[in-house]
Amino acid sequence: MASSATARACANIALVKYWGKRDAARNLPAAGSLSLTLGALVTETTVAFDAALASDELYLDGVPARPADLQRTSAFLDLIRAQATVTTRARVTSKNEFPTASGLASSASGFAALAVAATTAAGLACSPRELSMLARQGSGSAARSIYGGFVRMHAGHAEDGSDCYAEPIVSRLVDRVRMVIAIVGGGAPKAHGSRDAMEHTAATSPFYRAWIDQVPADLAAAEGALAAGDLAQLGTIAEANALAMHASALAARPAIVYWQPATLALLAEVRALRDRGHAAWATMDAGPHVKVLTSIDEAEAIATALRAVPGASEVTISGPGGPATVTT
Ligand code: PMV
Repeated sequence: MASSATARACANIALVKYWGKRDAARNLPAAGSLSLTLGALVTETTVAFDAALASDELYLDGVPARPADLQRTSAFLDLIRAQATVTTRARVTSKNEFPTASGLASSASGFAALAVAATTAAGLACSPRELSMLARQGSGSAARSIYGGFVRMHAGHAEDGSDCYAEPIVSRLVDRVRMVIAIVGGGAPKAHGSRDAMEHTAATSPFYRAWIDQVPADLAAAEGALAAGDLAQLGTIAEANALAMHASALAARPAIVYWQPATLALLAEVRALRDRGHAAWATMDAGPHVKVLTSIDEAEAIATALRAVPGASEVTISGPGGPATVTT
């Protein structure tokens, strides 16, 4: 058994969001989702199985991880140990090449890189689909980070999750798109982790059902836009879908409010840019940051405009990223 391997994976930003589960134990989403993998947000992870270790170890960006993160990683490694029929503990070393400590969701790139590195180190030969299903068990969005470019996640129907995986979507738009990422609040840790927050939304929000019912139509429209190479249609759907996801969370009791004043100021700037004829559509996840879908030609102008918004602490342009890969 190769006992050590290193893998790199890119984060992704959903254009049609995953927000709600049909099975929490198996981490199966209640609806599909669609994302763009981002080349500027990379996690590199090394997994070394070592018979001398009494328990798993996890180092994130050079420092020992919090117990909760170690426990989640250990539980994930247990899935791989069960498949490989080994009991050896592992040392996991992971670093994020993100725009500073932005507080951007790194669980997608993190669990995708961990799935690829750990299976390789354990000597398992997994197909991309198997890796996607494995990564999903660490974090729903990680299933999408196995692939580069535009990616579709299938909710599936099977109780065991065997039809719940991501797949790449080929579109000529991949050569034209950019994502401009505006960090709000200096990367302070988020108030509500997505896992608990989506569960709380599903349990208490009167708008949750309406949100879930809307997703299939948004997925169909986004896939239509990708097939037609229509950036404006894709952006329009992405912004509306993100706002609908946040509306469901805002209506939870008590409310889940990810936005800060600068989030709204950035949203207003994106609308103003659009009114002046620019290609710019916003999306937000489980935090205050604003990511703006735009074209390669307009990315610099959009970034300059967003940098001028008070409260935007850092603005980065990212192109599409490639699939998760083994490096050594
Ligand atoms: O993969 P999780 O459990 O961190 O959930 C991701 C949730 C969102 O980022 C808000 C939406 C998405 O589809 O990525």
